[in-house]
Parts: sequence; structure tokens; C-alpha cells
Amino acid sequence: MTQDELKAAVAAAAIDEIRPHLHRDTVLGIGTGSTANLFIDQLARLRDDFAGAVASSEASAERLKGHGIEVFELNSTGSVPFYIDGADEVNAHLHMIKGGGAALTREKIVAACAERFICIADASKRVATLGAFPLPVEVIPMARSYVARELVKLGADPVYREGVVTDNGNQIIDCYDFMIEDPVAMEARLNAIVGVVTNGLFAARGADVLLLGTETGVERLPP
Ligand code: A5P
Repeated sequence: MTQDELKAAVAAAAIDEIRPHLHRDTVLGIGTGSTANLFIDQLARLRDDFAGAVASSEASAERLKGHGIEVFELNSTGSVPFYIDGADEVNAHLHMIKGGGAALTREKIVAACAERFICIADASKRVATLGAFPLPVEVIPMARSYVARELVKLGADPVYREGVVTDNGNQIIDCYDFMIEDPVAMEARLNAIVGVVTNGLFAARGADVLLLGTETGVERLPP
């Protein structure tokens, strides 16, 4: 199977996962990226079965609206039973690196509000140790050089993602050569650097369910 077919398979599995829980007043949290896009496309078939969605990016909001799915402001929304999103890397503890698409801050906010985070990913995203994928850090623009120097002290090789402005008007630094042995501790350590808005470690609040697309089918963790 191609990577896109594996992504479509986990998107379908996520539909099966949430479908029995949808009600007319359900507002879903929706992630960002190519796997989330495939999920949005499949979700369109169910649009009469739930109220709508909160989106983790302008791009996902536009895609949802394009399918006739209502998009709500998070501040006007009550409970969000599910947040469905992809990942750049995921480990056995369902800790993740996210933010390859620069949407990490809104992703982390919507995920924090959700009762359950369903991660959908193809098998290439599964790793033993997080960090081969460069860890994104969203920074206030005037703090970029300072934050980069602090990241060097932590052992990372920080690279400014030139030309990228987040939906929040901020910039992204990617941390190369930065293998992460303790994701919960490192997430907190990075958040403590002045000028950091968010880092792409989703460990303190990892996923609750991982649907992983493999050649032999979709694996669910926990089973
Ligand atoms: C967006 O900022 C990211 O967190 C994505 O969720 C992540 O990069 C996964 O993207 P793909 O589904 O395109 O691999």
C-alpha cells in the first residue's frame, strides 16, 4: 500500500471509532495535515450526524467549510469529546512530535480541551525514541535568536523555518539532532524558555488512542 492509502485507512478507522458517539450537538476537534485532511474528507459523509467542528488551523477550517461542516470558535464551544489529528512521530507511550505543518499551538490548545485524542498515522511515524523528526518550536518573532541560543544549550541544532508565519503570527524554529529521552520533562523544559509559545512535544497530554496504518491493517493502541 502507498503511504496515502495507509493514511486513508486510518482516517476510515477513526470514522468507525467516533461514529457511534456522534450526536446532533457534538462538536469535534479537528487537526491539521495530510492525514487530518483525509479524515475531514471522509467526515463529510456524516455531516448531518453532528453539530460541527473546531479546527486547529485556518487550512483545516477552510476544508471543513468546503464540505459544508460548520466551524465553531473554541471559546463558544462546550465539551469537545474527540480530537482527531496526525503526528510527525509517535512512540509506544503515545507521546508525539507534531508541528511539521506549523499548526502546533492551535493543535495543542484543541487537544487540551478534548476528552480523547485519537492519533491517526501511517506506520512510518512510529518510533522508539522521539527526535529524528526535527522538533518544531513556535516563538514570538523578537525572541527568535534568544530562544535559538537557549536551544543550543540544551543540545539542539536550531534552524529557523524561513518564510513560515504561523496562524498566530509567530515563527518556527526546528530542532535538529535532538533525540528526546524524556518527552514529558523536555516539553516542560522548552515551555519554560521565555519567548517560546509552544513546542511540538505532545507528551504531558499525549494521545489516548493511536490508529496506526500498517501493511497488515490498522493497529489500535491500546487494543
Ligand atoms: C501539523 O502542524 C502537524 O502537527 C501534523 O499533524 C503532522 O505534521 C502530521 O502531518 P501529516 O498527516 O501530513 O503527516
